[in-house]
Amino acid sequence: MRFDTAYFDRAMDRRNTECEKWDDRSIMAEDGIPLWVADMDFPCAPAIVNAIQSRAEHPCYGYTIDNPENENALIGFWQRRHGLTIAPGQTQMLPCVITGLKTCVRAFTKEGEGVAIVTPVYGPFYSSSELNRRKVMSVSLLRDEETGRYALDLDAMEAALQNGAKLMMLCSPHNPVSRLWSEEELTALCRLAERYDVPIVCDEIHADFVYKPGRFVSILNIPEGRRRAVMLCSASKTFNVAGLQQAALVCMNLAMLKAVRQEMAAAGVACGNTFALLAARAAYTESDDWLDGLIDYLDGSRKLVYDLMAQYAPKARVSPIEATYLAWADMRAYRLTCEQLKEKCKAAGVAFTMGTFFGKEGESFLRINFACPRAQLTEGIKRLGKALEEE
Ligand SMILES: Cc1ncc(COP(=O)(O)O)c(C=O)c1O
Repeated sequence: MRFDTAYFDRAMDRRNTECEKWDDRSIMAEDGIPLWVADMDFPCAPAIVNAIQSRAEHPCYGYTIDNPENENALIGFWQRRHGLTIAPGQTQMLPCVITGLKTCVRAFTKEGEGVAIVTPVYGPFYSSSELNRRKVMSVSLLRDEETGRYALDLDAMEAALQNGAKLMMLCSPHNPVSRLWSEEELTALCRLAERYDVPIVCDEIHADFVYKPGRFVSILNIPEGRRRAVMLCSASKTFNVAGLQQAALVCMNLAMLKAVRQEMAAAGVACGNTFALLAARAAYTESDDWLDGLIDYLDGSRKLVYDLMAQYAPKARVSPIEATYLAWADMRAYRLTCEQLKEKCKAAGVAFTMGTFFGKEGESFLRINFACPRAQLTEGIKRLGKALEEE
């Protein structure tokens, strides 16, 4: 099968499949265009479908063992795609990345202690601390107002550490601002963590969505990171199988890994979803051609986002999309709050994730998920244009 433009251009009806993105009527009407929650409107790789179908044919779905081939598949993928060497035993399977964020908060900090997070960021970075009664210490990214590009504020991070943050959390590449962190930036952050002796949790779920000439660098490829970081990853985002719930954590510091495992055991978090494990293995071992085709397609769609936004929302400013399939649009020139944007978009039949989901810095911003057929993306942004028309 060829995973070319024609393949990814094909529309797929996901309505009435209990699909969060399409079937949540509080977000949009049945004929709405959803450019919000971060999954993709593409079929997943055929090897994944085959793995699930052949297992489903056996009618008994009892307890499962975690075959060592699952870990080998993950290790092989990260070596092949990102040049990261992971040894057997340095990984831990998880139900999902959010479980990993929360488990790490519990394993590395105590109640009342501070967790430094780089914001605006994916909402569960906040709730991982809040729900566990830790203090969120928000370190805002620096925004270049000319270009819309963001940078890490190392001074502010150092101030948070001086003020008692006991854990650093980073999203890399960054959701929602689409930044690909460079080796230099990651090294500087890791050195700060080392100086203040705090662990780092790095969510690398978007690692595979990187556009040329960018090159993804894992925190575990940084020497200081190998000593003190937990990396979270998942086939769910890359291969569009989030509904199956399967992720992993990688850590080269065995004492830290032990602490995470103890916390998982205490909470009764286990990972043994038969279909999810098989799907992840098929994704990691047999689906590179699908993934290569997908990245080429998304690269074209990323350029289309800039063009469509210039045409239909000319006052918006889209941050440079270095990674992820998410575009971060500054809508402040329209003088609308996220609440107002949400209502207007709903009325126009399109849904985006509102910037405030990512923190206070996101007021009057919105995030566009462009992982869908280009005709759908075009219609969605046209509807945004309609939503922005003056009454
Ligand atoms: C940065 C980030 N982390 C985690 C997740 C969720 O991952 P999971 O479904 O494995 O919990 C997402 C999904 O959008 C995400 O963008």
